[in-house]
Amino acid sequence: MLRSIDTAAAPARALPTSYTAHADLRHGLLQPQARISPKYLYDARGCELFEQITRLPEYYPTRTEAAILADAGPAMAQALRGHEVLIELGAGNCEKVRVLLRRLRPRHFVGVDIAGDFLRQAVRRLAEEFPGLDARAVQADITEPVRLPRDLPLAGRLLFYPGSSIGNFDPADALAMLKRMHGLLGPHGGLLIGIDLPKPLHWLEPAYDDAQGITARFNLNVLRHVNRLIGSDFDEDDWAHLAFFNEDHSRIEMHLRARRALTVTWPGGTRRFAAGQTIHTENSYKYALPRFQNMLTEAGFTPGEVWTDPQHWFAMVHAHA
Ligand code: AVJ
Repeated sequence: MLRSIDTAAAPARALPTSYTAHADLRHGLLQPQARISPKYLYDARGCELFEQITRLPEYYPTRTEAAILADAGPAMAQALRGHEVLIELGAGNCEKVRVLLRRLRPRHFVGVDIAGDFLRQAVRRLAEEFPGLDARAVQADITEPVRLPRDLPLAGRLLFYPGSSIGNFDPADALAMLKRMHGLLGPHGGLLIGIDLPKPLHWLEPAYDDAQGITARFNLNVLRHVNRLIGSDFDEDDWAHLAFFNEDHSRIEMHLRARRALTVTWPGGTRRFAAGQTIHTENSYKYALPRFQNMLTEAGFTPGEVWTDPQHWFAMVHAHA
């Protein structure tokens, strides 16, 4: 059973006439520290490159999380029993949720992702694989309030937010996001969320700067996407991939660094970059478990069970609404 729903993520509201689509991009490019939101990394090519990243030897999060999900087996099924509605935020290729679908056998599944075509294909495959499952795709930007299908039961919802995607947000935004997630839940609601834990630099940094240069391509690809969105004239060859761990903020930062002095132009705007100046494209926070549990509590959740790997590199945290 497959139904596909496209909900506009944000409620309609009056906008000033000067506002146009992707004003956030132009605004970000004009900041003293230029930035591009990481959500623009995920055009079709970006999604494919990210899939390649998840299979890199250096990129431990995906494989560690998958092992936790596989090994936690019956204990996790016991802790999560009774959830009939499984909702995955940032579902992407819907690969991770399969093990939960098999184990929990929920009645409804909703995959939410900004990349609509990619998501719809993935949900179509799920619907074939799990006959009788009400599987739906909702294309939405999860950094905005998400509208779920009206007829989706409120009781027994389990939000699944794997991959440490929450780490993309600054702590204040992550908290706001957790509060919005809490708002999507009703009686017997829960959250199962993946977080990447702090670990030694020599494991962290190569995960974001791999030997094959796939992460570099992923980062550089954002420029092509931005060119299409706002009509800018970024040239990938002028930029270099940069990734490092910022200890003060406990986060990996990805930047694009200008290889020479250059000017980028788009309809109605221009930005000069000195050689070596960067555009900040992503943060990936590594939360210590107690800190993250405090955030959950502050967002209205009751932290529950935690599953982790033997090295404590990654954690799956269950919380009750
Ligand atoms: C999808 C946000 C979890 O932060 O590890 C991977 C994205 N960026 N390599 C991460 C990413 C560079 C990834 N998340």
